[in-house]
Amino acid sequence: MALQRMFDLTGRVAVVTGAGQGMGAGIARGLAAHGAFVGVNDLFAERAESVAAAIVADGGQAVAVQGDVRDRASVAAALAATVAAGGGPIDILVHNAGIPADGFPVAKFHEHDESAWNRWMDINFTGLLNVVKEVLEPMIERRHGRIIFISSEAGRQGLSMGVSLYGASKAAGVQMCRHLALENARKGVTVNCLALGRMSAEIITDDKFMMPVGRLGSPADVAAACVYLASDEASFVTGQTLGVNGGAYTS
Ligand SMILES: NC(=O)c1ccc[n+]([C@@H]2O[C@H](COP(=O)([O-])OP(=O)(O)OC[C@H]3O[C@@H](n4cnc5c(N)ncnc54)[C@H](O)[C@@H]3O)[C@@H](O)[C@H]2O)c1
Repeated sequence: MALQRMFDLTGRVAVVTGAGQGMGAGIARGLAAHGAFVGVNDLFAERAESVAAAIVADGGQAVAVQGDVRDRASVAAALAATVAAGGGPIDILVHNAGIPADGFPVAKFHEHDESAWNRWMDINFTGLLNVVKEVLEPMIERRHGRIIFISSEAGRQGLSMGVSLYGASKAAGVQMCRHLALENARKGVTVNCLALGRMSAEIITDDKFMMPVGRLGSPADVAAACVYLASDEASFVTGQTLGVNGGAYTS
């Protein structure tokens, strides 16, 4: 019997939210490198266009699809544009957008006013619901789908650094994914999360930031986990949260 190469995403249509830079750009490149057509979503059109153009220049298939994950109509338009350009329904959804474009306020809960509450839930939880709502029924109809939510270790451990609202919004998505996984376990749709540790798109050597393995995580680390979870070979893995954290949290 011929040896079978694994993790081939040829013919699959993927969409990655918040993929105009950072982890999302790496995820989009990783999926494209394994053969998927990728809708590169971002709030900022120019960011999405630059990542999609680089993928195409490097031999992959991608389209830029501007859209705000917090807004249902905007999400619908971005995903419809991915389907039109990719020539088929979405097989792989990675909800990666999770840090508001106007900054990441770090403060203890008692220091925040109420305006901060929805800021986090809107992008991490409502954003997840918006994108899942668009893709799930077509996935169920075709009995195939892969949904991946990019979460954070701040969503499953207590931290004193002032990220309670962020962490709680990430945890809400993780719990939603567990339910979605079991609701759809017999329908060919898997739903999993990645809990990221401290990551950087740049090389940082300052020791005080290091993860136990001796470095920070990179977009390529996240992309590798997404390629696996998006593959046909991961069909027996659902409802899980995989730590991509350099050993910062062991489970
Ligand atoms: N960087 C880290 O150390 C780290 C750690 C744990 C988890 N994470 C998670 O990884 C994911 C990516 O993080 P990153 O560091 O690459 O972020 P980033 O801020 O570098 O990039 C995120 C992208 O999302 C886009 N975006 C923001 N709001 C959007 C919206 N409403 N709709 C669509 N796109 C939007 C931004 O324009 C930006 O291009 C996030 O979910 C984050 O919570 C990151």
